[in-house]
Order: sequence, then structure tokens, then C-alpha cells
Amino acid sequence: MNTRRTMLVANWKMNKTVVEAVGWLNTFYPQAAERAAQQELVEVAVCAPFTVLHPLYVALRRLNSKVKLGAQDVFWQERGAFTGEISAEMLQEFRTKYVICGHSERRVLLQESSEMVSRKCGAAVKAGITPILCVGESISVRRGGLLLQWLEAQLYESLAFWDNQETIVVAYEPVWAIGTGQSATAADAEQACGYIRQVLRERAGEMADHISILYGGGVTPENIGELLDCPNVDGALVGGASLDPDAFGKIVLAGCKEQPK
Ligand code: PGA
Repeated sequence: MNTRRTMLVANWKMNKTVVEAVGWLNTFYPQAAERAAQQELVEVAVCAPFTVLHPLYVALRRLNSKVKLGAQDVFWQERGAFTGEISAEMLQEFRTKYVICGHSERRVLLQESSEMVSRKCGAAVKAGITPILCVGESISVRRGGLLLQWLEAQLYESLAFWDNQETIVVAYEPVWAIGTGQSATAADAEQACGYIRQVLRERAGEMADHISILYGGGVTPENIGELLDCPNVDGALVGGASLDPDAFGKIVLAGCKEQPK
């Protein structure tokens, strides 16, 4: 019996000041989050910049909201001389439940390797924070017919920390679909997410059936329904469309219609 909830996760990236973040929540909360929060099988999270985690934490508590907080990065060391970095313990202070690790923007722009990503995921897990591990291919890898090999290698290297039991979330995010207005088709998303589950199953057996695998890249209120209908797509990591509380609200409401997988 599987226990995979539908997860709808906003990734705000480097957007929103404190005033904007709290304003977003005040618009979003009354329309969709309340309804979603009542459903045990839907999980809604906002991965926000570090600077707005505390005000959002306060606002979510005030609203008694079940919307969860997430961060967009974490460093692997617990403390010390690492100028500019943020530890998992620091994120814990705001009940941060999730942290995105290995987003392609960090892998590409900041040369984050899968080895670094694995150490970050490991630090998160140790602190009781669930990593949302991002994997995905560039357009040249896809055109070269190397999609499956690429995903397998990224998973293998980025999950070096994993003991096969700790809770993790994996997000399949094809680099060519991120922020380009071009989404993968539902069939593309299912193929990749299904393959990711197969790789996880080879490694962790039945545990793989309990891991949420999300799709990310060009998700909108218009395409979320067909993506969530895919048997191996358990939710979405939403960038651009999550900046607008109305659009993200529509995406959450679409998730509330889904049956658990
Ligand atoms: P997008 O970004 O929805 O704007 O394509 C998704 C992501 O990068 O997580």
C-alpha cells in the first residue's frame, strides 16, 4: 500500500522581499491553502529565500496554517568559518520542513557538483529536514539520447549520503523546461519520473513506492491536471507560476482533486 501525498511546492527563487512575501500569503491563504490544509493527502510548501523564512514562519503560525516552509539551499557543515552559508540547524529554527538541494540553477551557475549536493542532502536529513533533490537533463543530453543514463548517474552520485530509509523527495526538472515557458509533456514527465522510481527501487526496494517524485519546469494552472494524472508524478515544484498567489492557488486546488497514488 503506497502512502504518497500530492505535493505542491512553490520555489520562489531569488524573489520577494518581506513585505511581498507576507502580502503573497495574505492573498493565497484565504483562497486555497485552507482547503488544501484540511486534506491529509495534499502537502503544500513554499521554498522561500532565507531572508523571508522568519516572517513567513510567524505569519503561518498566526494563521495556524498547515502550509509548510522550505528553503532553497543549505550548507553541509554544522557551523564554523563558512562565510555566507546557512546551516541546517539555522533552518530548523523556523520549522523548515524541506530544503531544495541541487537545483539546476545552482548546479549550472555555481558549479555545484552531485557530490556537494549529496553532502547538503545528508546535512538536511541529519537535522530532520527533508531534502527535495533536483535532477534533470540539458537539451543536448536529451537530444543525444542520453536521458536515462544521465538521470541514473545524477541520482547515484547525489544520493551517496542516503541510507535507503530516510525520507527524501526527488524532483525531475528538465533544464530546458525551467523558466523557459516550455514544459515537458505529461508523457515526458511520466517517462522520467517512472525511470527515477525504477532506479530508486533497484536501490531501496519497496521504499521507492513511498517516495514522492515531483515534476518541475513550466508548471502552470493549465498543465498541472495532466501532469498529476501521471501515475509516477506525485506533485510539482513550481517556479514562475508560484510567484502569483492566484496562479499557485489554482495549482493547489487542482492537486486537491487528485486521488492518492
Ligand atoms: P519554472 O521553475 O516553474 O519557472 O519553470 C521551476 C523550478 O525551477 O523549480
